[in-house]
Amino acid sequence: MKKIIVLFSLLLHVCGYAQTPLITNVPNRTTISLNGKWQYIVDPYETGFYNYRWKERNENDREAYWNSEVPENKTDRKEHGYTNKNVLNVPGDWNLQDPKFLYYEGTVWYKKSFDFKNVAADKKVFLHFGAVNYKADVYLNGKKLGAHKGGFTPFNFEVPPNLLKEKGNFLIVKVDNKRYADEIPTLNTDWWNYGGITRDVQLVLLPSAFMRDYSVQLSKSSVLAKEKKIEGWVKFSNGVNENLLLEIPELKFKKEIMVNGDSAAFSFTVPALALWSPKLPKLYQVILTSKNDKIKDKIGFRTIEVQGDKILLNGSPVFFRGICIHEEIPNPGRRASSNADALQLLKQVKELNANMVRLAHYPHNENMIRMADSLGILVWSEIPVYWTIDFDNAEVLRKAKQQLNEMITRDRNRASIIVWSVGNETPLTDARTKFMSELVQTAKQMDGSRLVSAALETHTENGVITVDDPLGQYTDIVSVNEYLGWYGGLPNDCRNAQWKIKYDKPLFISETGAEALGGFHGDSLTRWSEEYQQWFYREQVEMMKRMPSGFSGLSPWILNDFRSPRRNNPLYQQGWNNKGLFDHNGKKKKAFYVLKAYYDEMEKKMP
Ligand code: GCU
Repeated sequence: MKKIIVLFSLLLHVCGYAQTPLITNVPNRTTISLNGKWQYIVDPYETGFYNYRWKERNENDREAYWNSEVPENKTDRKEHGYTNKNVLNVPGDWNLQDPKFLYYEGTVWYKKSFDFKNVAADKKVFLHFGAVNYKADVYLNGKKLGAHKGGFTPFNFEVPPNLLKEKGNFLIVKVDNKRYADEIPTLNTDWWNYGGITRDVQLVLLPSAFMRDYSVQLSKSSVLAKEKKIEGWVKFSNGVNENLLLEIPELKFKKEIMVNGDSAAFSFTVPALALWSPKLPKLYQVILTSKNDKIKDKIGFRTIEVQGDKILLNGSPVFFRGICIHEEIPNPGRRASSNADALQLLKQVKELNANMVRLAHYPHNENMIRMADSLGILVWSEIPVYWTIDFDNAEVLRKAKQQLNEMITRDRNRASIIVWSVGNETPLTDARTKFMSELVQTAKQMDGSRLVSAALETHTENGVITVDDPLGQYTDIVSVNEYLGWYGGLPNDCRNAQWKIKYDKPLFISETGAEALGGFHGDSLTRWSEEYQQWFYREQVEMMKRMPSGFSGLSPWILNDFRSPRRNNPLYQQGWNNKGLFDHNGKKKKAFYVLKAYYDEMEKKMP
């Protein structure tokens, strides 16, 4: 037993971050939740990780914070310890759980003690994190399982056999949310750097040979045909030689799939199928049964594609009545993570009569995507390749591809997601366009069934807004952020604005918006007033009504006010970006009604 654990630890040090390939559909697997109260130690000098010569402590270092803090006798010196006086809720950012954490950027050690009744010998145990911002080093009973970087995507580790005990297990996670120039995102973001174990932590119990990942989708080729073609694949944790059963009970459909190896592809036709759409978000139960494993999922069947300068959903042109959202509950201003949080935010989206959300600027939690599936809201999902990334750095490209892979792997079976976005407002250089075009290619290789885009750059001269960002030659749709009348000019400059688009592709306005402090009123020329924001939206809407052909929708910035360390006007911001259509207390600002009226009109024109 000891040998296995030592070998496992050796493997970890060789690989650096020995993660296990991502297990998908965790909400429908056999899991044991480790959510709840975790003890913590704040460690700004990372004393628990480095000794006084700044050397990484070795695994058995008695003063390492992943090892027992219990003195061996009355003389033994221990200078760290966990106590019930210092606890944090998991999932949750630390920033809002105690005033000392609001602006904290650094390391916090989390500890969870738990018992574990033995599982059948043939089961494997995995430790799964929905997300940890930003870097996680994970130790179980003093043994390092691995590490992960990236604040908004899931990761998991296999627990070495026999490492878990019936009583007194202790899981310790070092969480570090410091920002670095060579990370994704980089030093500068217009959102709060919420740190912590911000999403669910679970033990996942699986058979020795299990279905790790799968794809079940409607083929584009059959979207207009009477008989619908479903295609996909299943990947196993290891090689098998058996028949897999795929069932769609509501269609009384069953299909045996022969698997000889660690994966199998399939395609078949079904007589009829209700296609998933915002109007009819139909989800079918899909059951995959192998010799040792069984997975149930709820899957919507739809297609999304581009034809010339039109976006087609299920073969018909669609107009995105969108809105941008941060993963934040505005009152009190904290990371969203639960089902209830997702429902709260998407109910606001429905109030706006929107049919689409741009989840800015990073993958949101899985509850949000599954709720969008159920409510029929189209989703743009994005990795935080935001602003001044270190585009010349090959390691940074690897990190971006890792996050892209984790995002796509987790959500590939979610009908609501129609766009994978590889970034936002990245400054034009050759290195940047090479970096970003590689990400576009990578996204297409990982999932050819969805559109791939990014918020591109524009430039404006003499009232002409030109879209000729070189990245636009690679993306399926041309998406741009535009703030004419807020960052430069006045809202009525929209009346004479002309658009010049280099590409014969659908055009999507991925952001437009203005700030207003909720409840602050003045005339329309009074900056920060609700009336200014209302004027801005009125002028923008009028411009949207005369956009060039191929204009396929917009997602204004933003649904709710949100925290940002960059926003420091002492009267109108105080650490908040107030471009929300709802204020901190969930009250609609005047501009909300301008956009809603436009969306009501557009729904009649393009239902
Ligand atoms: C930018 C950026 C957002 C930012 C917004 C703003 O376009 O994409 O992240 O918050 O504009 O300036 O408010």
